[in-house]
Parts: sequence; structure tokens; C-alpha cells
Amino acid sequence: PPVIAVLPAAGIGSRMQADCPKQYLTIGHQTILEHAIHALLRHPRIPQVIVAIGPDDQQFHQLPIAKDPRVRVTVGGQQRADSVMAGLQLAGEAKWVLVHDAARPCLHAEDLERLLAITEHSEVGGILAAPVRDTMKRAEPGRSSISHTVERQDLWHALTPQLFPLALLKLCLQRAMDDGATVTDEASALEHCGYHPLLVSGRSDNIKVTRPEDLALAAFYLTQLDN
Ligand code: CTP
Ligand code: MG
Repeated sequence: PPVIAVLPAAGIGSRMQADCPKQYLTIGHQTILEHAIHALLRHPRIPQVIVAIGPDDQQFHQLPIAKDPRVRVTVGGQQRADSVMAGLQLAGEAKWVLVHDAARPCLHAEDLERLLAITEHSEVGGILAAPVRDTMKRAEPGRSSISHTVERQDLWHALTPQLFPLALLKLCLQRAMDDGATVTDEASALEHCGYHPLLVSGRSDNIKVTRPEDLALAAFYLTQLDN
């Protein structure tokens, strides 16, 4: 069965400090956003990508990808969760929905395939994630001195894509937003409602381009991709 993808791309990229939102920065021959869209559309089960763009976005419709019939566009909101919710409204009756950051251009086909293969047989879905490698420190509240070391054993970095049953994600996202919960990824909305989405081990080079120094890294990782 087909999987609909939603790509929140309505952020302003404040930490990147570029002249335009970071998803419109070019790496190689394409913008970061186009790399992300193509990584999804290359999968045979993904017939459609819904992109949520900013209300004042002047750039999306200039891109060749905007004319691709598999790409649909909607207007996002103030928070990432609002943008995802806007995208979900266009997803129709699909059973499963995949949410992926527009700012993650380096997704490998094998990671996407593993996420689909493993989480589809679950009730609640799951996310790509990478085990934490560094020693983790908890600071004393509000200070920059160490309180204690946090056991790394069961800590993961949350990545995207994240795959969930569409109806369940809509319900949980709405409830989490109504409750004023902090929702920085889709899984946190499900957690808020008491669910335990799966952690699917993914490559740590699937980075979210966030700060200026991430650009060179993403450019290198993209040369390594054989998608
Ligand atoms: N996003 C969105 N709508 C928002 C905020 C973020 O669609 N209101 C998207 C971004 O475009 C990005 C993804 O969510 O693809 C991850 O967010 P983040 O890395 O935080 O991007 P920005 O919010 O744009 O960057 P910053 O936080 O540095 O301003
Ligand atoms: Mg942000």
C-alpha cells in the first residue's frame, strides 16, 4: 500500500543565519529541499510528497520540483507541529504517513526501506534514530557546571523520517498541541498520549542542516550517496 509523505518546510532557519531559509540553500545542483523530496520520491511506495511552506515563501514555486505532479503544497504554521498538521490535512485516507524534515538532504534509500519494513508491522509506528556516542552530562539546573553523567546506554538521537498511522498521528498531534506539550518531532506527540513508537537504527550521517558548519558536512555526505 502507498505511503504519503509530509515534508515540513516552513521554518525560517534562524540558526543558519543565511539570507534565505536554509531549505533553499543549494548543495551541488539542487536545494536542500529538493534533495529531501527526491530521497522520498525515489521510494516505489511513496507516490506523493506534501510540502508545507511558509506563508511568505517566494522561492518554492521557482523550483522545477514545484511542477512535479507528485508534489503538493500547502501553507505551514508558526511551529513545526502546525506545519505538519497542515500537511496531514491533505493526506486523505492514507493508512500510513511518513514525516521528514526538509532540512535533512542526506537520507539513504536503505534507511527509508528499513524504517518502512520494521515499523509497518507495528501498531504505533516508529522513527529513525541513532545511538548516542558521546558521554552525556546533565548540568546543574540553569548552570554550566556538571551535575552528573547521564547513562548513555539507552539514549538515542531522534532523526527523521518518522512513520505513523495517519489517523493516530493526527489524533495525538492535536491532543499534544491542545495540551500545550512540547512537540519537536512527531514521536513526542505519540509519547504525550502514552504510546511507545519503535526506534529503528539509522545512519548518523542523516543530519539536519542546522548551523552554518553543517553545510560542508551535508555536501560531503551527499557525494557519498548512491541513491
Ligand atoms: N519547520 C516548519 N514549520 C515551522 C518550523 C520548522 O515546517 N514553523 C520545519 C523546518 O523547515 C525544517 C524542520 O521543520 O525542515 C526542522 O526544523 P528546524 O531545523 O528547527 O528548522 P528551522 O525552524 O527553520 O530552523 P531554526 O530553528 O534554526 O530557526
Ligand atoms: Mg526550528
